[in-house]
Amino acid sequence: MRIRSSAAHVEISAPGKLNLHLEVLQQRPDGYHELESLLVPISLVDTLRFHPAPHGEIDFGWEAAGMPGDVAGMPVATKNLVVRALEALRRYVGRGLGAVVRLVKRVPVGAGLGGGSSDAAAALAAGNLGWNLGLSVAELHELAAGLGSDVPFFLHGGPAICRGRGEQVEPVTGLGRLHFVVCMPPASLLTRDVYRACVPAARPVDCQDLLASLRRGRLAQAGRLLHNRLEEAAAMLSPWVDRLRREFARLDVLGASLTGSGAAYFGLCRTARHARRVAALLQQRAVGRVYAVAGGC
Ligand code: C5P
Repeated sequence: MRIRSSAAHVEISAPGKLNLHLEVLQQRPDGYHELESLLVPISLVDTLRFHPAPHGEIDFGWEAAGMPGDVAGMPVATKNLVVRALEALRRYVGRGLGAVVRLVKRVPVGAGLGGGSSDAAAALAAGNLGWNLGLSVAELHELAAGLGSDVPFFLHGGPAICRGRGEQVEPVTGLGRLHFVVCMPPASLLTRDVYRACVPAARPVDCQDLLASLRRGRLAQAGRLLHNRLEEAAAMLSPWVDRLRREFARLDVLGASLTGSGAAYFGLCRTARHARRVAALLQQRAVGRVYAVAGGC
């Protein structure tokens, strides 16, 4: 999350994410699933601009950065996570603060790229700064977890292993700069539906071998260790998952996987140049919107 602030406004880059590993351990009594996941923020970002006002309404608007098709389905007004995040902040401090907020969307919606969660984390950070609230990281974390399972990850920034329902964030370092090709097919998936269709792991896979491979720079090995337990469930709900799996299998990538609950799919590449080359190839196959991105560190 990159933050620029002046007296008049706060501007925050809200990155998307990829799940390099996602294991579903069990369903909990509250309906959520216990997870272990390795996530990295990526260079595909939304931009949130926050203009504070001492009182009034939250005036929220958004635009798609040159890609109208991608953000169809974006919730507006009160249902949007940005508005819900700012309202949670206002409630927490008990003040009728106002703001004008504008969001430029680049991260596709319903992709498993975490765009909405990242926007919400950016809104919490922007409100805390722009309204001069001085809330601690722990207080923001609490509010973030109430907004969605992935929101705390984005609040902390950087790669992390997330556990619990996703809200327990353990930062990890030493992954190096990683390069990926990401493809968002023409149809999105609903997180809730994918989890409902998922059978938790009988024999859970952990992410320690993947983490060690990345830290040693053994990318080919890391590519073979990418894992997402939600992939089969997502494949049952959308034919695009299988289609993308087959397309990526034909590409020169080190490994490929669904991200989060989908429907976006990604491949691990050797370098930025390699990612751009693979992206150009995939673009010709009419399987959706294609991005060459970087992540990790
Ligand atoms: O927490 P969030 O609102 O992002 O989750 C969306 C939906 O995904 C939940 O309502 C739940 O159905 C499912 N989910 C889950 N287990 C998790 C995270 C999400 O079952 N750990």
